[in-house]
Amino acid sequence: MKIKGIKRLRGEIKVPGDKSISHRAIIFGAISKGETIVSNILLSEDTLKTIQCFIEMGIEFNIDEKNNRIKIFGKGLNGLKEPKKPLNCGNSGTTMRLLSGLLVGQKFKSRLIGDSSLNKRPMDRVIVPLTKMGGNIKGVNNKYPPLDIEPSEKLNSIVYELPVASAQVKSAILLASIYSNRRSIVIEKKVTRDHTERMFEYFQKNDFVGSELYVPGDISSAAFFIVAATIIKGSNIVLKDVGVNQTRTGIIDVLIQMGAKIEIKNIRIVNNEPIGDIYVSYAPLKGIVIDEDLIGRLIDEIPILAVAAAFAEGTTIIRGAEDLKFKESNRIESIAKELKKMSVDISPLSDGLIINGGKKLNPAKVCSHRDHRIAMALSIAALAIEGESEILDSQWVNISYPNFYDIICAIK
Ligand code: S3P
Repeated sequence: MKIKGIKRLRGEIKVPGDKSISHRAIIFGAISKGETIVSNILLSEDTLKTIQCFIEMGIEFNIDEKNNRIKIFGKGLNGLKEPKKPLNCGNSGTTMRLLSGLLVGQKFKSRLIGDSSLNKRPMDRVIVPLTKMGGNIKGVNNKYPPLDIEPSEKLNSIVYELPVASAQVKSAILLASIYSNRRSIVIEKKVTRDHTERMFEYFQKNDFVGSELYVPGDISSAAFFIVAATIIKGSNIVLKDVGVNQTRTGIIDVLIQMGAKIEIKNIRIVNNEPIGDIYVSYAPLKGIVIDEDLIGRLIDEIPILAVAAAFAEGTTIIRGAEDLKFKESNRIESIAKELKKMSVDISPLSDGLIINGGKKLNPAKVCSHRDHRIAMALSIAALAIEGESEILDSQWVNISYPNFYDIICAIK
């Protein structure tokens, strides 16, 4: 994809439904009894993988791709069937980790497989607690996919302190606990997204009977345009109906600390999740040291935050983000390597990045490292740099934001 620098960004941008909430809506809909209708759901490569896994387990769906609406014909907590083939999670860590929790509680065996990126991502973080609960789950070298799951006699409850801050691990334990004898407790020292807890409560109140859900816009997708409007002079945008759950809004807090002009209006609660309209206009930024306790609230936004830091006066230091090495790519290495090609003064650290911002940047040919968030972060940098850049392997945006380039191409 070739992208030229733009003069300004104006108007209203509709971001797709939240990826994390969409995965969870599919899972909870499938194990509830009866029809669940999910509107504004994200239908991207990752979430379609979760849907396909449930189709393999006998769940039927009506999918209206044009209107981002699905109907799930849920079969209840014990209604899933043994899949005839391995469940393919593709590139999606959320699919694999959340389903591993759900599947250890089933009365049938299953196998979870992934693509070459997912095959390198650590699964011991779910294998360890699920095994402690009595689950029968094995990976390659006890660490990597494919994951093989056999039914176990019974699952026990667990009190588990998360060694790595991870919402996926927390969610795997919570999903397994549905099939265990007693209440489990997960202790997290650092905040991670709480969508599973919120949706759990929403469906539990309804006795796991199918219901209706609206998925808020994805703050992680909105973040790309929030940063674009912040760093490109003369910009002024509004992003309507975006999820503004506190466990996800670290990016907004940090950008405001850096000097950004961002306002959230019209906050309301829909299906247990806060939603709001985000107004952003251009503002000069200054570098900051990011508080390590904030990392869990902006873990997916660090690539685009690095872009914002490149346009800020002074130094930005990001630490405590070691887990970025284990995402769809090693995001510390990939963002540092590619932004350097655009003349950014950026250095990778073992657990973060140092960016000396405010220098003149140049267009370049850069590569996504087959990582959707790296592709989009680099595309926003390209929009803010005079001249034409090229993003190689840009099609990976389809993992979370299939119409990202339609929006970029429509900018006047
Ligand atoms: C997610 C949790 C985070 C995040 C991922 C989605 C989720 O991963 O990076 O994109 O939906 O629970 P970790 O749990 O590995 O931190």
